[in-house]
Amino acid sequence: MNILYLNGSPRKQASATKKLADAFVEGMLKTVPESIIDEITLYEKAIAPCRGCFGCWHATPGTCVIRDDMDSLLPLFRRAHVVVWSMPLYYFGMPSTMKAFLDRLMPNNSPLFEKRKGGVRHPQRYDAAAQRHVLVSTCGFQESERNFEAIALQFDLLCDDRVSKILCPAGGAFATDHLGSAARKRLEEVQNVGADYTVSGTIARDTERALSIPVYDPDRYMAVVNRLAAIAETPAPDWMGARPSPQAHAVLAAFVARYREDPEPERALTIEFAFSDERSQAALLCETSSCTIEPAPDERAAARIEADVALWKRIVSGDTSISDALLNGTLKVWGDFDAVLRLEDLFVGIEV
Ligand SMILES: Cc1cc2nc3c(=O)[nH]c(=O)nc-3n(C[C@H](O)[C@H](O)[C@H](O)COP(=O)(O)O)c2cc1C
Repeated sequence: MNILYLNGSPRKQASATKKLADAFVEGMLKTVPESIIDEITLYEKAIAPCRGCFGCWHATPGTCVIRDDMDSLLPLFRRAHVVVWSMPLYYFGMPSTMKAFLDRLMPNNSPLFEKRKGGVRHPQRYDAAAQRHVLVSTCGFQESERNFEAIALQFDLLCDDRVSKILCPAGGAFATDHLGSAARKRLEEVQNVGADYTVSGTIARDTERALSIPVYDPDRYMAVVNRLAAIAETPAPDWMGARPSPQAHAVLAAFVARYREDPEPERALTIEFAFSDERSQAALLCETSSCTIEPAPDERAAARIEADVALWKRIVSGDTSISDALLNGTLKVWGDFDAVLRLEDLFVGIEV
């Protein structure tokens, strides 16, 4: 089976969507291991916009007048049994280079009009009757409704309904190398769906619907996103390197004592801990086999978490979670919240 796997995210290898598309393709390979995969990162390619000159219809039928990377991509497209379109949702549609790629498929069409599937289409110049398509997309908002409809319909029209879809909202859950358990579970599901797809040639509607449920509770996701955005509007205070009191130091020491012995492969992480009632701060430097208390601010810090000493005590003893405290306004986070989420993996009994 020839699989053309198009990565249409400007974030290239860091794409959240690519995590889902990778899982799907890995699943396909489980059942059809001898497949040929052409994985193309579109934002690394030279793909000029279509000029609308119709040269590929009249002057040089079947060949575009522009010489760029589409010369090598068009044959890959034509020979593909399955095209996997992986892209983030941009303003309810597709990112610009993916759209440029799509428009440049015009040489595949003949200028003739034909009635097909209840509409008018141009016939393909190659035998596309058995070609199938899979649209994989993530978006930033936590809901699929009133968000994915336009791109879903565009692909239905484009692919004569030979398209299956994996449309996953709250894509932030996949925008990190250290995925939470819910995101990891979704990737496993998508991998299984990929394995079935090569056998059935489709994704059942119910499965599509299940995959478009956000991996996090949508209301809570939105509340956390908004709270972090509001906090980011004001700069994090620098309390001039003031050292923590013995009580605050005891909190930090409790974190160190909870550092997990069964490490994730890649652990390096520095987090600033700030104690708002005493305006002191320190950093925890998490490394492969050790966790140490360092003076803060620390330029390596991925995030800063600020709460009073009493709240920190409750967090370290598992009485409350970091996100509950964030949502009730008693705790602040600046920087990379994904780094904060990792605290659950790094420290025993800490709930984010
Ligand atoms: C220009 C732009 C437009 C976007 N438009 C939408 C949108 O219409 N709806 C939405 O939910 N998210 C939107 N997003 C968020 C992205 O879809 C989201 O961050 C996605 O998960 C990124 O995936 P990637 O890492 O694969 O690029 C937009 C992001 C950008 C940069």
